[in-house]
Amino acid sequence: MIGGGPGGYVCSIRLGQLKQKVICVEKEEVGGVCLNWGCVPSKALISASHTYEKVKDHGAGMGIFADNVRVDPNKMQDWKNGIVKKLTGGVRGLFRGNGVELVIGNATVKGPRTVEVKTAEGTVETIEATKAIVIATGSSTIEIPTFKFDGKSIIGAKEAVSLREVPKRLLVIGGGVIGLELGCVYQKFGAELTVVEATPSLLPGVDPECTAVVEKRLTKKGAKIIKNAKATGYERNADGSLAVKLDLGEGKYDTVVTDVVLVAVGMRPNGAGLGLEELGVKVERGFVPSDHLGRTNVDGIYAIGDVTGQPMLAHKASKEGEVVAEVIAGHKAAKDWVAIPAAIFTDPEIAVAGLTEAQAKEKGIEVRVGKFPFSALGRAMAVNETDGFFKVVADKKTNELLGVHIVGPEASDLISEGALALEMHAFLEDIGLTIHPHPTLGEGMMEAAMNGLGHAIHILNRNAG
Ligand code: NAI
Repeated sequence: MIGGGPGGYVCSIRLGQLKQKVICVEKEEVGGVCLNWGCVPSKALISASHTYEKVKDHGAGMGIFADNVRVDPNKMQDWKNGIVKKLTGGVRGLFRGNGVELVIGNATVKGPRTVEVKTAEGTVETIEATKAIVIATGSSTIEIPTFKFDGKSIIGAKEAVSLREVPKRLLVIGGGVIGLELGCVYQKFGAELTVVEATPSLLPGVDPECTAVVEKRLTKKGAKIIKNAKATGYERNADGSLAVKLDLGEGKYDTVVTDVVLVAVGMRPNGAGLGLEELGVKVERGFVPSDHLGRTNVDGIYAIGDVTGQPMLAHKASKEGEVVAEVIAGHKAAKDWVAIPAAIFTDPEIAVAGLTEAQAKEKGIEVRVGKFPFSALGRAMAVNETDGFFKVVADKKTNELLGVHIVGPEASDLISEGALALEMHAFLEDIGLTIHPHPTLGEGMMEAAMNGLGHAIHILNRNAG
């Protein structure tokens, strides 16, 4: 196994459970981007920023007055690092318990079953695999040549989750998932936020109605969102601040002064330079394509996770890891899921599974859409979070569910019901007939399905049919 991220470590553990002998080579720390500086650390900071804002700005409305609320970024970092340590330690424990050997070092593929590992101490070890090699090397932050990372004022996501000082002004290049999640964090902690996005919309590809809710909240709190714009370079001012130059297209330019620039323009796959091309493994712009069983074009070499292509999501990597482990052990398994859900931890959260309305229409499907706002849910009022809605997209002829799009509180947890419904080929009637406990946010899913059928109880069904 080359790579110990959420693809590689899950695949290793499952192989261990299946009594296969596994050596997992990881060049940094088990857990990969996800546990060390991606998914989990960012969610810790997001949750801290949410708590801070709730107490500071929303408490009074509930009758809670917290004077002298303040942020200690050092303490917060220590807390976050503690979570990372617990999780990576947990993975190491699961490796031991399942007989997986961990080797820390840099791996290169030297033959169809041969891997060479260079350790930090300079030793070189050759590993001969009897059955298979799995490539799970993930992806790396894309750097813009005119914004070279300096670890202080020009940073990527890795540094952004480790700041020990809240920037006064933060400019984010890229209005995608990372830019908006971390932008929301530092905005809540008091940074003046500017987001520069190259395309006409934030979070390209996400249902625009969902994105609009997040954008409205960001701008209401003072963020400046500049779309159709590219950051081309910067000059450093005498006081240390940065004057970032923007190309707004059609011959127009602008300059924004900031203290810190977060570059979040995507991730590139780590498939090149591993020795794969030399063995005839197809590597396309760094991606290592694999089929429904996780096989590359060369027998015995498998690939999973970010390195295989979009979507670059931890849970997709893990599921692919499980499938490949079964395949290597000789069991029947395949990447045959209906939908890969995605959760975006902005404020409010967005979570999606399956087709958007536009994607369904592009496929020539006539759709039925059901919606239900959080503002009509008693529980949403009780938790003081009423922005957003549930939206279900179904086939108009059969009422089979095609997609679920949620923007609002706890959307990231609520989407699992949508993903399950899609996997089970549920109809709107199935969701509408399922008793959802009251008072919960999940009732919105049931009501949205019923709205699609024309009879949601707690709103007027003006869009019915
Ligand atoms: P992204 O692809 O989500 O967003 C990058 C954004 O930058 C796009 O909107 C793009 O149009 C814009 N952009 C590109 N070049 C630009 C330029 N020169 N100037 C201005 N804007 C420009 O990539 P991001 O946010 O870096 O995330 C990387 C990956 O990590 C994604 O594949 C995402 O799925 C994954 N991720 C997932 C999370 C989650 O599931 N909650 C959290 C964070 C990351």
